[in-house]
Amino acid sequence: MSESITIDKSLSKADKYNRLLPQIEALVKDETDITANLGQICAALKYSMVGFFWVGFYMRQGNELVLGPFQGPVACSRIKIPNGVCGTAAQHKQTIIVDDVDKFPLHIVCSSESKSEIVVPVFYNDIVIAVLDVDSDSYANFDATDKKYLEELCKLVSYLMGRIA
Ligand code: SME
Repeated sequence: MSESITIDKSLSKADKYNRLLPQIEALVKDETDITANLGQICAALKYSMVGFFWVGFYMRQGNELVLGPFQGPVACSRIKIPNGVCGTAAQHKQTIIVDDVDKFPLHIVCSSESKSEIVVPVFYNDIVIAVLDVDSDSYANFDATDKKYLEELCKLVSYLMGRIA
């Protein structure tokens, strides 16, 4: 198993994801520990993609989302659904993209450096069991390409979490 990720920074965003996702899959497929795998996924995303200032998972516990593995500055530990971009995504069971976090009324500020955000739900049997949250230090850093590939990645996360359920 390779323990490094190789992504050419000059590639387009879609090409980066196309090369990154198989490498992430190879990195996590033989490891059964979910904390190790989610930590690796956060690191792979943060250090391969452009402007990924904070990358982390919030794990659902009842009506709350609790901070899981992440890469970036310290963040809030618990978010009540439907608060924040994370809680909104969990409540509505859909990916939310926010181009300017100051214009999203429910946004929870963890860092003033965060300018835009994408939150992708992780499903298990149609229930949201976690969310992947990515913050950028640039405005409007996330688009339909991020949504497509991060949703694909969250299907892998769902499979990994299902293996331990
Ligand atoms: N901004 C998020 C809170 C988590 S931090 O960004 C890491 C939200 O509004 O849900």
